[in-house]
Amino acid sequence: MRILGIESSCDETAVAIVEDGYKILSSVVATQIAQHAPFGGVVPEVAAREHHKNLPHVLDRALSDEFKLEEIDAFAVTQKPGLIGALLIGVSAAKSLAWRMNKPLIAIDHIDGHIYSAYQHAKNEGEEIDEPFVTLVVSGGHTALFYAQNVLENELIGKTRDDAAGEAFDKVAAMLGLEYPGGPSIQKASQTGNPKAVSFPRSLIHDDTYNFSFSGVKTAVLYYLRGQDAKGKRQNPEIASVEDIAASFQQAVIDVLIAKLIKAAKDRKVNVVSITGGVAANRLLREKAEEKASKAGIRLVVPPLDLCTDNAAFIAGLAYHKFQAGDLSDLYLDAKPYTHIRLNKRK
Ligand code: KG4
Ligand code: ZN
Repeated sequence: MRILGIESSCDETAVAIVEDGYKILSSVVATQIAQHAPFGGVVPEVAAREHHKNLPHVLDRALSDEFKLEEIDAFAVTQKPGLIGALLIGVSAAKSLAWRMNKPLIAIDHIDGHIYSAYQHAKNEGEEIDEPFVTLVVSGGHTALFYAQNVLENELIGKTRDDAAGEAFDKVAAMLGLEYPGGPSIQKASQTGNPKAVSFPRSLIHDDTYNFSFSGVKTAVLYYLRGQDAKGKRQNPEIASVEDIAASFQQAVIDVLIAKLIKAAKDRKVNVVSITGGVAANRLLREKAEEKASKAGIRLVVPPLDLCTDNAAFIAGLAYHKFQAGDLSDLYLDAKPYTHIRLNKRK
């Protein structure tokens, strides 16, 4: 079964064709980084306009000469969460295609899609993931921990109370005068920095929940740059280099992400964990998570970089399973800025 998926929730316009949930026949991503860079973040109105402009071309490239619309068995689209104007472009396109071709329409939650990328990657490597497992979704818009029971059921067990980790990377990079998006530029600057140069807070690291908070570390960097401590008192530090600050910040964020992931895995007694989402592209996060997981006797699954950042392959892939379960949408489908997934207070 071939499903064509569309993703337009943030600043990537993506179309992919996936066979039977796993085999990626084609995957095209058009990024809008250059359009948003001057503003230091994604501008919702600009994103919507760019999706509107780019989607027909991305669709053509994904189909290329190899695939015909007539050969597509169903159409899938990211329905939520995301920027509403951006989502509406993808949803409208998917509805038009499903109507025109008279084929099923399947709505996907973007976060479920990120989680699914771990299954997709493992299967394409000829491996299976032992369920249940614990999964960390860490991106520009989300930082959350899930207890994944199966492809279609993910229980939210913790999430950020404020900024997403990727958002903190982007904002701190801007403070340091580094390029947008901040994740890759902080990673690059950190390569020659000392992660122990500045001691930034690891918020909630010893807290008993699986929640996160990244606004504190972001503010700590700001105060540090102003030469103040957290209470606003003047300090007289020898201001560290941009590389040292970047490396210290990166280390602080990664320490918390990994500590919570491993804690959840141990508490829930699972032997597999995965990390997905844009920040999962971070090299240090991948290395340190591997180190800590293997020490704890836990298998770590992290998809390759292009499956971690936003794409439509995980949307079309997950749609196959929703189709099998009979979970289809109709032409009244509407985009939603928020996810349905609610925090389960049970620990
Ligand atoms: O999943 P994604 O492509 O889009 C959202 O759904 O948000 O994630 C984008 C986020 C951005 O905040 C970007 O700075 C971050 O992922 N990111 C990274 C790295 N590459 C991308 N963060 C840390 N290190 C990286 N290498
Ligand atoms: Zn994403």
